[in-house]
Formats: sequence, structure tokens, C-alpha cells
Amino acid sequence: MEYEKPLFFEIMSYAVHADRDVVDMVSGNPDWEPPQSLRDGLREYADFDQSEFQYAPSEGLRDLREEIAARRGVDESQIVVTNGGGEANYLAMARALERGAGDEIILTDPVYPYYPGKTSMLGGTQRFVPTDDDGTLDPAAVRAAASDDTACIVVNSPNNPTGAVYPEETVRELVAIAEAHDAILVSDEVYDHYDRSGRFSSALSVDSDHRIVTNSFSKTFAITGFRVGYAVFPEQHVEAAKARHMLVNVATTRPGQHAVLHALRNTDPAYHEANRQLLAERVDTFTDALDEAGAEYTDPDGAFYVMARFDGYPGTVANTKALIDDAGVAGMPGEAFGDAFDDWFRFALVTPRVEAAADRLAERFG
Ligand SMILES: Cc1ncc(COP(=O)(O)O)c(C=O)c1O
Repeated sequence: MEYEKPLFFEIMSYAVHADRDVVDMVSGNPDWEPPQSLRDGLREYADFDQSEFQYAPSEGLRDLREEIAARRGVDESQIVVTNGGGEANYLAMARALERGAGDEIILTDPVYPYYPGKTSMLGGTQRFVPTDDDGTLDPAAVRAAASDDTACIVVNSPNNPTGAVYPEETVRELVAIAEAHDAILVSDEVYDHYDRSGRFSSALSVDSDHRIVTNSFSKTFAITGFRVGYAVFPEQHVEAAKARHMLVNVATTRPGQHAVLHALRNTDPAYHEANRQLLAERVDTFTDALDEAGAEYTDPDGAFYVMARFDGYPGTVANTKALIDDAGVAGMPGEAFGDAFDDWFRFALVTPRVEAAADRLAERFG
């Protein structure tokens, strides 16, 4: 096999089949409610005329694209509505590679594992730039790694798995590095509504033909099963991306797009604030227990995850499974995210049982 299936599935299936109660902190599926307006939009759709049950325009419903464009300050023609952030990243990386401007993709270490997987699938090669222990990315390290072979630099802020939020200066420098090497910065911003630091800066704030911004409603509205995301392309790349999207997918879910549009128009910002608050409380509960357990951990500024390192108990696949069996807590092995954090675990705070998990870890390691 030329590319690997992400480890998520193996660990999730192990946890499901465990012979005891397990708190699932493996995947990034939110356990909080979508906004009421999302449910209303979906319900409304059921009674639409049958013609609304047919293909949507391939690049996405026009009203949705206009709504996104107005919010993001771009032209509606630059937007492709995709099957989640996953497809948006795929289209962006494919576009960067197919230009004949190099076949290397710069990624951070630790990394969201789908990026290296997609890189191999698309025939590119990975070059990893390690972050600091708190997830900070030093643009000088990216600059040193970049060359004329660089087709693309993929970054993610707020970050999965470290929780780091890149400041505006970093984003600006990353775009400049992409420009200097005729590369494309792909900025994956799917956790933008989960920035708790107030320092998040979208790559859209830097005007350039060398950046593509990807996003998704999976996390924004707690609807990973809907599969609605989008990418914002520079004008000279958008037609090729639309063609690839059409050939691969035909179009994206129409009821899902309608429900998302309804939610965009009718959701109070307090919805997002409450989710950030919930996560902030979970981070506190969880990291207090990690203190008790004597663990080292990341203190995330955004997204849903905490990485932790337990003395003498590296986050290997075998230890991840042992932790499921012995402590009833399922996380992800650090090695799933690269080499830099390969002795850490990642725990997703997407369960109401964060406290129970925290107690179990404190008991196991404390
Ligand atoms: C960094 C990052 N990008 C993209 C995705 C995929 O999002 P979507 O469900 O919109 O495809 C995830 C999901 O966990 C993610 O963590």
C-alpha cells in the first residue's frame, strides 16, 4: 500500500471492543449541540420541493458561497464548497502539486496525520519542520526548510494536536516564504471558532496569490457528519480546483449546505462563546488531573486537544491500548502525529466525561 490509513480507526475500534468501560478521547467528534438554527434548517429542508433534492451546483449553493464570501471578505467566485475540510485540503494540496512548481510539501511535526497521507496519495514528498514543545512554529525554521522544490506549506491554526494558535506575524511570514519560492501556503483554519487566546489570525488577512485558506463547518457547528467545508482560492487556481472537485464528487450535500446556510444566518455569536467556555473548563479539569499525575502537558490556546507525557510511559500504540485496558481512557499515541511528540499521548476533550477520565489518569499515574 502506498499510503497509510490513519491510526485513528485502529485505536477507536480497539476502545470499542475493550472489555470494560472506556472514556473515548480519541477522535475530534464534538459532543456538544449544534445551534438550534442548524436543526431548524435541516427540518425545513425535508418539506422542500423534490427539485431541491437534486444535484446542487458543483461549486456549492450560490447563497451559501455568497454568505461565506461576505463573511470572509473575498469574492464569491473564489470559493469552492467541499465535503468538509478534508476535501478542501485535498483540493488545495493537489493544486499546489500539479503546477509543476516542485513536489515537496512542508509540514509541521507534530502534524495532523491526514496531511502526510494526502501528500503520498498525491505523489508528493514530505519535509517536516519540528515545532517547539508548546507547538510554537518558528517561521525561520520553515524558511530554512523551503527551497525551489517546495510546492506547498501546510499549516493548521488553531492546531490539532498541540492547541497552538499562530500569531499574525507568523502567518504573514509563512505567506512571504511561500511567495519567495513560488509555493502555496495552505492554511487549514477548521478550529478558528475555538481560539481561546484571541490571537488567531486568518491567512486571509494577508493578501496574496500564494495562499489557499481551508475551513469547515464540522467543528464550527459540531456537525462532523454533515460534510460541509470550503476553500478560498486565488483567482488563477480556482477553476482547476472546481474541475477537480466536480470530477471527484459531482457536488456536495445539498441538505447539509442548506442547514449550514440557515445556521450561518441565524446563530448568535453567544453559541460559539459558550463552546469556547465549555472547552476552557474541560482543559482546566483535565490539566489539573495531569498535574496530580505528575505529567507534562501542552496548555492549548485553541482547538479540542491536550497532549500529555507520562514519565516512563511513552505514548506508543502498545501503551495506548494498555491505557484503554488498565485505566479505561482512550487517547491517541503521539507517534500518529510524527516524531517530535512520539512519546506523548493526545487526548480529545470531546466527552462530558473529561472529569472521570482525569480522575482515572490521576489514579493510574499519581
Ligand atoms: C486540522 C484538521 N483539518 C481538517 C479536519 C477534517 O475536517 P472535516 O470534518 O471538515 O473534513 C480535521 C478533523 O479533525 C482537523 O483536525
